[in-house]
Amino acid sequence: MRNRVAILHGVNLDTLGRRDPVHYGSLTLPELEVQVRRFARELRLEPSFFQTNHEGEFCEELHAVADYADALLLNPGAWTHYSWAIRDALEVSGLPAVEVHISAVEDREDWRRVSVIRDLCLATVQGKGVEGYREALELAHDHLAEAAR
Ligand code: DQA
Repeated sequence: MRNRVAILHGVNLDTLGRRDPVHYGSLTLPELEVQVRRFARELRLEPSFFQTNHEGEFCEELHAVADYADALLLNPGAWTHYSWAIRDALEVSGLPAVEVHISAVEDREDWRRVSVIRDLCLATVQGKGVEGYREALELAHDHLAEAAR
């Protein structure tokens, strides 16, 4: 089974640990990545991690990601809600993707309920903090396992 999963974080996710703990908890991004790496290994997935605050860089990573990954977990931060460029780049990647949000975007401001990538993704996991990444990895795992049958 193909098992490489790229975990892509977008704008402001590098400031985890300094953001409102009510929505984002207290883990820093490196701490979150340690946990996500552990979840991935438990599922026999090979994780890789990327974060940028630059939209064009995020797009370029999506252009290249199929060279080194078989599936994606994607948390583009605020870009989720309006970046058609990232939506188009996700389509270019051609990879199965799961949209992840640490906070409960459905229960916050109206503008956070909009996602321009949602219909390209296998599923959206939101409001579950770091545990949401485990769930998203399980969904990616099950999709890759099904594709290998
Ligand atoms: C976020 C939710 C977005 O609305 C917000 O702009 C972020 C993080 C999340 O993980 O909950 O930066 O994607």
